[in-house]
Amino acid sequence: MKFLNLTAMAVVMVLTACQTSPEKVESVETEKSVKDLHSNSNFNSVGASHVHLNLDINMDEKLVSGNAVYSLAADHEATEIVFDTRSLIIDSVTVDGTSAKFSLGEEDELLGQSLSAEIQPGAKQVTIYYQTTEDIPGVQWLSPEQADSDMPFMYTQGEAILTRSWIPIQDSPNAKLSFSASVTVPEGVIPVMSATGSGADENGVYQFNQKNPIPPYLIALAVGELEFEAISERCGVYAPKALIEASKSEFADLEKLVQASEKIIWEYDWERYDLLVLPRAFPFGGMENPQLTFVTPTIIAGDGSLIALIAHELAHSWSGNTVTNATWDDFWLNEGFTVYLERRIVEAVYGEEYGAMHRASGVAELMGTLEDLGMDNPDTKLKLDLTDRDPDDGMTDVAYEKGALFLEAMEAVVGREEMDKFLRDYFSDLRYKSIVTEDLLDYLTERFGAEKVEAIGFNDWVYGTGLPESFNLENPEAFGQIDEMLEGLKTGVTPEAYSMEGWNIFQSLYFLRNLPADGPESMMTDLDNEFAFSSSKNSEILSEWLKQSLKKDHKPADKPLEEFLSSIGRRKFLAPLYRAMLANPRTNARAHEVYQAARSGYHSITTNTLDDMMAKDKAES
Ligand code: BES
Ligand code: ZN
Repeated sequence: MKFLNLTAMAVVMVLTACQTSPEKVESVETEKSVKDLHSNSNFNSVGASHVHLNLDINMDEKLVSGNAVYSLAADHEATEIVFDTRSLIIDSVTVDGTSAKFSLGEEDELLGQSLSAEIQPGAKQVTIYYQTTEDIPGVQWLSPEQADSDMPFMYTQGEAILTRSWIPIQDSPNAKLSFSASVTVPEGVIPVMSATGSGADENGVYQFNQKNPIPPYLIALAVGELEFEAISERCGVYAPKALIEASKSEFADLEKLVQASEKIIWEYDWERYDLLVLPRAFPFGGMENPQLTFVTPTIIAGDGSLIALIAHELAHSWSGNTVTNATWDDFWLNEGFTVYLERRIVEAVYGEEYGAMHRASGVAELMGTLEDLGMDNPDTKLKLDLTDRDPDDGMTDVAYEKGALFLEAMEAVVGREEMDKFLRDYFSDLRYKSIVTEDLLDYLTERFGAEKVEAIGFNDWVYGTGLPESFNLENPEAFGQIDEMLEGLKTGVTPEAYSMEGWNIFQSLYFLRNLPADGPESMMTDLDNEFAFSSSKNSEILSEWLKQSLKKDHKPADKPLEEFLSSIGRRKFLAPLYRAMLANPRTNARAHEVYQAARSGYHSITTNTLDDMMAKDKAES
């Protein structure tokens, strides 16, 4: 049974009233023996509280080698410990300093191989000596040219289940541990990690420490020729030389965002908040690696307009990195809470009107996703069923946007003041824990009573497909004027009559996304002449323009399209563009050619998605 320790909760409430971070309290019981279908490890019987990594990074051979030293949790009775590995070579294992017997399980394409080592009950330390192999999914190695640098570059990406390909580990988000590392790199490059760095020691070995327990998917490392610029005392940005100045000004609001988050939740509990600007191949917009958010260079627009993405990754410092989904079926707990917080942060820093447009833009994307998936597709539930599937395949806008809408629905029922109190308590009561959706339900029921939970519509939101009937979608006022312009375009008003002056990114995107399907023939050419979309420095605007151009078969966009596809690796941009190219008979064959030429520069996460798409297209033609 789960219960809340109310005294401890009261202590937390007092402590959080002033938004300082709470004392650690063991106040809430969570589901203890949750099964994580994406890990073969036995973390429920014996787990580690800390790992120290001794790593040598060989940039020429594209290999990581070294050892992982696990401190086991006290008082266990286990006679074996099981880790996850994927494509790793295990050289040897020692337990409390003595060589131990180990064996590797059968290789599974998705989950990898289990590594089981014999231990004695009460054993304290397990050390695994290992090396990585070529072409592993959790590390991307880039040539100097691909990194736009004089030196090669490497970085890791752990979420969801890829850390096991560069560290033998109990790779479940429910098996949290702190970590430290000693990292050796060649001359001319430096390592950075999701941890506090204390520089190189007298032997030139770089030292890192992450004091908070984190899920394995958040252990991250990047090595390259990097510069650093401070933005405030605790915030700064790492970037390649060519981008460091632009990055510093793009992200000038970083400290402001952290302060706004602290007002909404509680004190930022990690030692620093820095950004790392990655090479163009990075498959995501951002990845919330603790203390060091990894970001795509495609958010450097020159005007700070894509900063909401930073608000998102920053919000993960609480949702996801402090309170974590215990299984990937509960992914919405990470992303839904994060999008809700992201919106609150954006609203607090940039105002209500801007916030409303930011929100509307997200909701519109959700509507598109729901339409694509179909309203009764099981993947439109918040609680997913990823049995026998790659978690990556079930992760859609639903977890993000529908998850955030659920929290908005909750706010509408309890009121903002109660919502804010709830947020503070949730993140402090459950601090450093991993929870499943049902833990949240228990927590809400305990706090608000079953009736309120019913009024919020928890079951409909979480276990139902599509959207609850009660949900209604309204466009904010600010888009009204754009609707009129779009109407005008349809009837032949030429774009010179219009001005986009003073528009923010959400207004521009709304305009582009809703261009009339049946406008005059010259519409696209006229629009590009007037607004120069095809040479936009803003990646969101450019990608939307290219998508519209494909839909409308606007041939002059072919060249900028191919350039874009060959120069960036962000899946969110690539997948819809390749899909649109395949759908147009004129560009179908070219899509395959461009993809084959560009493929080696993309991350495995991106090629996984695109390989499937290309294969399906071939099978259908
Ligand atoms: N945690 C995600 C990225 C992720 C999700 C990696 C699932 C691997 C598996 C990150 O916080 C994220 O959501 N990034 C978004 C941007 C955000 C503003 C929606 C992205 O990369 O597009
Ligand atoms: Zn996220």
